[in-house]
Amino acid sequence: ATIFAGVLVFLVLFVLTKRLSFTRQRLPPSPLSLPLIGHLHLLARMAHQSLQVLSNKYGPILYLKLGMVPTIVVSSPDMAREILKTHDAKFSSRPYFLVGEYFSYGYCGMGFTPGGEHWKNLRKLCATELFTINRIDSFEWVRKEEISRMISTIENTNGVINIRNLLITYGFNVMTETVMSKRFFCENGALLDADQAREFKKVSIETVEMALKFHISEFVPSYLRWIDWNIPKVKILQAKSDKFMQQIVQEHKRSKNSRKTKDFMDVMLESFTDSSNKQSFKAENTVKALTMELLAGGTDTSASSIEWALMELLLNPHTMVKAREELVKFVDLTNSTVNEGDLPKLTYLNAVIKETMRLHPPAPLLVPHKSTVECKIAGFDIPKGTTTIVNLYAIGRDPNVWENPTKFCPERFLGDSRIDVKGQNFELIPFGSGRRTCPGMILGLRNVQLVLANLIHRFEWALIPGREYGVEETTGTVNWAKTPLEVLKR
Ligand code: HEM
Repeated sequence: ATIFAGVLVFLVLFVLTKRLSFTRQRLPPSPLSLPLIGHLHLLARMAHQSLQVLSNKYGPILYLKLGMVPTIVVSSPDMAREILKTHDAKFSSRPYFLVGEYFSYGYCGMGFTPGGEHWKNLRKLCATELFTINRIDSFEWVRKEEISRMISTIENTNGVINIRNLLITYGFNVMTETVMSKRFFCENGALLDADQAREFKKVSIETVEMALKFHISEFVPSYLRWIDWNIPKVKILQAKSDKFMQQIVQEHKRSKNSRKTKDFMDVMLESFTDSSNKQSFKAENTVKALTMELLAGGTDTSASSIEWALMELLLNPHTMVKAREELVKFVDLTNSTVNEGDLPKLTYLNAVIKETMRLHPPAPLLVPHKSTVECKIAGFDIPKGTTTIVNLYAIGRDPNVWENPTKFCPERFLGDSRIDVKGQNFELIPFGSGRRTCPGMILGLRNVQLVLANLIHRFEWALIPGREYGVEETTGTVNWAKTPLEVLKR
C-alpha cells in the first residue's frame, strides 16, 4: 500500500508540474489543431494566402503546429523587425528540408545550412569576393550580350511572344556565364551543348518537382525522419545531379586559362585551396552545392519579378506611359540598348519594381528561419527550435500599412517616400533582412532593372485581344504568375 501511495503521489506531482510548466509558457494565439497533423490541414496550396487569412483572424503573430513542428508566423512590419533585426541572431537558423539536406551534400552549401562556422565563411566569401560591386561590374559585358540576344530574338519573332521563355533564357545564361563561364541556351531558347544541357534541364525540373512534394520528414521530430518514403527517390536524383556537377567542375578546371573574366567558380576553387580556409571548407562539395544554389536562387527570382512588372504595367496602361516617358527623357534614343549607367536615373522604373515586389514578392514567405534558443517576442514565449515564417505577402497587402493595398501604384514610392527594398524598411523586404538576407540582392536588382528597362524602351507591347489576363499566382520555385505572360509586339 505504501508503494502504491508513493507512486500515486509521484504521478500527481508529475502531472501538476507538467501542467504548471505548460501554463507558464505563453504561446501566441493559435487556431484549434488536430491530433498528429496539427494545423497542416489549414494550409492550402498557396500557403502565403492561407496564412494571410489566419493572420487576419489571429493577429500579427500566431502559433501553429505543422505536423509535430512548432511554428510561428509573423505578418506585420513590427514583428518582422523583431525576428530579423532585434532577435536576428536567435532566429537565423533553418528548419529541416529533405531536398535541402541531400542537394547541399549534407549542408556544404548556404541556403539550407542551419548556421555555424562553415555557413559564416560562405556568407563572408559572398560579401567580400563574389557579390562585390567590382565583381558584378566585371560581368556587365555578359548582361549586355544577353540583352542584345534577347532583343534580336524579339525582333525576329512575329506574332505572340512568350515573355517568360525569354526571361528564363536571359536569366539562366547570365547566371551560368557569371558562375561558370558557360551558356546553355541560344537565342530562340533551344539548348546549346545539347546532351549536357538537356540532362541538366531534366534533373533541374525533377528536383523542383521533388522539392514541391509533401515530405513527411519535414513534419516529424528528427529521430523519425527515416520514415520518409521519398528519401530513396531524392538520393537517386541527387546522384544524377552530382554526375552533372562533377563534369562541370572538371571541365571548368581544364579550361581555366581560356577565360577573359575570372568567374565565381574560379573564385570558389581558389578560396578552397587557400591554406587559411582549408579547414572550414569542404572543398569540392561546397563548390558544387553553392553553384547549384546560386543558379537556383538567381534565375527564377529575377525572371518572375520582371514578368510581374511587365504584366502590371500592361494592366495599368497609365503606368506604362509614365515609365516609357522617363526612358525617353533620360536614355539617349540613339543607343540601341539601355545601359547599366542609365539605371540610377530611372526613378519611376525603380518605383515600378518596388511596387511589383510589394504585391508579388518572389519568395512570399522568405525562406523559413528557425529559433536556436527560447525567447520572448511581443510578450509571447517562443520555444527553442521553432520554425519561423515571415509572411511578406500579408505585410505587402496589409491595409494598416498601405493605402489601397491591392492597387498597383508606383507613385506611392515617389516624393517623400524613403522606403527601399534593401532590408531596412520592414514593410518591404523582398530580399529579407539581417544575417540571412539575400546575398545576391545587388545582382538580382541589377538584372530586373536592366531587362525591364530594355523591354519597355525598345518595344511597344500589347495584350492579346480577347485573352483574359489576371494577377493569379501559382507555386513553383518562386511565386510565378499562374499563366506565363504572352503578348504582342506593336
Ligand atoms: C536567400 C530573395 C536573387 C542567392 C534569399 C531569400 C530571399 C531572397 C527572400 C531568403 C532570405 C531569408 O531567409 O530571410 C531574392 C530575390 C531576388 C534574389 C527577390 C531577385 C529578384 C538572388 C541572386 C542570387 C541569390 C541573384 C545569387 C546569384 C541567394 C542565396 C540565398 C538567398 C544563396 C540563401 C542565403 C542564406 O541562407 O544564407 N533570396 N533573391 N538570390 N538568395 Fe536570393
